[in-house]
Amino acid sequence: QDSLREVADGRAFDLGTAVDAAALRDDVSYRDTVRTEFNALTPENALKMGPLRPSLNTYDFTDADALVNFARANDMTVRGHTLVWHNQTPEWFQPWDYTDDQLRRFLREHVQTVVGRYRRSVGTWDVVNEAVADDGTMRETVWYDAMGEQYLDRAFEWANEVNPDADLYYNDYGADAVNEKSDAVYDLVERLLDRGVPLDGVGLQLHALGEWPDPDSVAENVRRFQALGLDVQVTEMDVAFPAGEEPDDALERQAEFYGDVLDACLDTGVDTLVTWGVDDARSWIRSFRDFSERYTGDPLLFDERNRPKPAYRAVREAL
Ligand code: XIL
Repeated sequence: QDSLREVADGRAFDLGTAVDAAALRDDVSYRDTVRTEFNALTPENALKMGPLRPSLNTYDFTDADALVNFARANDMTVRGHTLVWHNQTPEWFQPWDYTDDQLRRFLREHVQTVVGRYRRSVGTWDVVNEAVADDGTMRETVWYDAMGEQYLDRAFEWANEVNPDADLYYNDYGADAVNEKSDAVYDLVERLLDRGVPLDGVGLQLHALGEWPDPDSVAENVRRFQALGLDVQVTEMDVAFPAGEEPDDALERQAEFYGDVLDACLDTGVDTLVTWGVDDARSWIRSFRDFSERYTGDPLLFDERNRPKPAYRAVREAL
């Protein structure tokens, strides 16, 4: 039987997974699953500013290089995640020690160095991640404080200068279906486009945690972004129930939802879906803050012993 990857390759669909550098290095079965079952890879953490910047003037590209080289050796595409974000900034980075202008120059140097290094190997970037707050206002981050909304304009322009061929994305969570937050994201990207910012697409993270977006509404949402001339990708999908409310047929319902979301992608011409991890044992939900108390910890396509779940089969069938 063909692997998931072979099915995805056959219909020119990018089926991706978030990859952890340490697991890839240490665990042979993890490595085999990544390369046989997926044709696209997103570094789960290695390209974020914190891991990349041990000190103000240095970079550590060890993990990022390893992931990018692995992808190239296995003919997988790479989604670069992420250049500008409020989370996972370096420990040493105390924004109040810097003037607005220093922050601006620091960010420019960072964006240009990282995009430049991977010019030939990373064709898609999440340039800005999660700039919109849950209530739809602009999130007040260090970048917003220093530069206002223009920080997005500049980040996209800097990335575009260094790699004009890359597809540059705005990425966010909770904006998967038509709702207040996706309305705000829609307004934001419309303003960016009006200002001539080189934005190519919108990434819908699709962390379905507790509440799952309605697949029909996801399709409607995708279509309105596409109508602006943008591409849309599903960039970080995982599917969990509220803790303690897992029905008996949880795995089947999860599978059905994965299939329905993929169907919505295929109907609307979305050509990329990334799951946020490979197997349940390594899902971020099990280790992030209090998520393990809030949600069930088996959100992915492979179980904790790396066996394909009903969700795996649903994705295969939908493809
Ligand atoms: C998560 C990683 O999976 C964790 O390992 C890390 O500790 C925190 O970040 N939205 C994003 C991702 O854009 O970068 C986050 O990844 C999950 C939520």
